[in-house]
Amino acid sequence: MERNTITDYITQNKERVLNELLDLLKIPSISADKKYNADVLKTAEAVKKRLVEAGADMVEISATSGFPVVYGEKIIDPKKPTVIVYGHYDVQPADPLNLWDSPPFEPVIKKTTLHPDGAIYARGSCDDKGQMYMHIKAFELMMKTNTLPCNVKFMIEGEEEVGSPNLGPWIVANKEKLKGDVILISDTSLIANDIPSIDTGLRGLAYMEVEVTGPNRDLHSGVYGGAVGNPINILCKMIASCHDENNHIAIPAFYDKVIDEPADYRIELNNAPFNLDDFKKDLNVDDVHGEKNYTTNERTGIRPTLDVNGIWGGYTGEGAKTVLPSKAFAKISMRLVPNQNSDEISKIFADYFESIAPKSVKVKVTPHHGGEPIVVSTNSAGYKAASLAMTDTYGKKPLPTRGGGSIPIVALFKKELGLDSILFGFGLDSDALHSPNEHYGLFNYYKGIETIPLFYKYFTQLTSK
Ligand code: BES
Ligand code: MN
Ligand code: MN
Repeated sequence: MERNTITDYITQNKERVLNELLDLLKIPSISADKKYNADVLKTAEAVKKRLVEAGADMVEISATSGFPVVYGEKIIDPKKPTVIVYGHYDVQPADPLNLWDSPPFEPVIKKTTLHPDGAIYARGSCDDKGQMYMHIKAFELMMKTNTLPCNVKFMIEGEEEVGSPNLGPWIVANKEKLKGDVILISDTSLIANDIPSIDTGLRGLAYMEVEVTGPNRDLHSGVYGGAVGNPINILCKMIASCHDENNHIAIPAFYDKVIDEPADYRIELNNAPFNLDDFKKDLNVDDVHGEKNYTTNERTGIRPTLDVNGIWGGYTGEGAKTVLPSKAFAKISMRLVPNQNSDEISKIFADYFESIAPKSVKVKVTPHHGGEPIVVSTNSAGYKAASLAMTDTYGKKPLPTRGGGSIPIVALFKKELGLDSILFGFGLDSDALHSPNEHYGLFNYYKGIETIPLFYKYFTQLTSK
């Protein structure tokens, strides 16, 4: 596959390829909010249509107990290797809406320091519609230029942002259909546009909700205050006790299964270009925060965490209301690293929280979704193909790094299909995924479309005798 063939095709189709993505971004496919059910389904239809247009066969909207998976394939020769592309067409809720500079589902292109060629501002632009759509366009490119070197199967899901609750069973039910050699995913980040990298691990996740109940009703905080346990005060204290003074998690047994990374690996991770001042500047914080004796890259890459995602209770309306609330709530997530298990950690957390609650309150702990951590070998044909492809298009060999986020289904691909995933991400951590003003660089979008066909080329070469 000639580089020219690729770049010529992209140049000739540049506008259409962008406008199609913009159309996809206009549909608010928020999987977490029932109000948007119809839009999520509409997005699945749109993805299906684009797969058909690009030249895929057997394209279908495959039902699950939740939102469907869009499946499509092109089998050119059963003896050739098969790449399975995974992505998601659902997006995170857009709130807080008032913090967006432009409406989240009306994409606009703006230039920024990190994206001098312009970036598309819209919910899902980076996570994951923009990155997923690069694969459909790269496939189209290979079909139209007669350069597809192997088989390809697409599975694009609609529930990633709510923990993929129905994808595991769908995979198990479709094992035959999902025979392949590697899973290719663009849903992670690069270090920078001039420092290509490939994630070689993702953290797992255990997500909990806690409810602390004090008295049977909201009370006058003067009449009763001081004599009855305030569930918000107590919840805050319980949460605070989860970390010690070194920001190490203080829950017994929490680290029991964590494998400490060897010193040489930590050195390698810390050698990757990273500018702490830029990091702080981007977030407008005067200092970073985290576990003592670990660097920022280690804190997000190889160490587990515990974070409150939301906390509520009592009076939060205008003005002051003197009340001693009956209940307090929090949503707490823990990011997990290799060898930790989300069910075990959920239990360790629940046991701890229940054990430290004073008798003046009752505590209810409910686990939400979870996912297991994964590591990706740099020795596989898939990793090598990804590395060679990026070396061609970026002019530099990509560095192996660790992504701090989670894609829970990746562990299931390994468990159920025996397949490794290649985390071929083209976004930037600073693209504001899940935040207001999410964006995706045009450079990143086109670079992805340019690089993906080379992955197919090298993967086919490396896996054929
Ligand atoms: N694409 C992200 C995961 C990601 C982003 C990994 C950047 C590495 C770098 C994915 O869509 C996501 O947001 N996952 C969720 C987990 C899910 C269970 C809701 C997450 O990490 O919070
Ligand atoms: Mn994603
Ligand atoms: Mn996401």
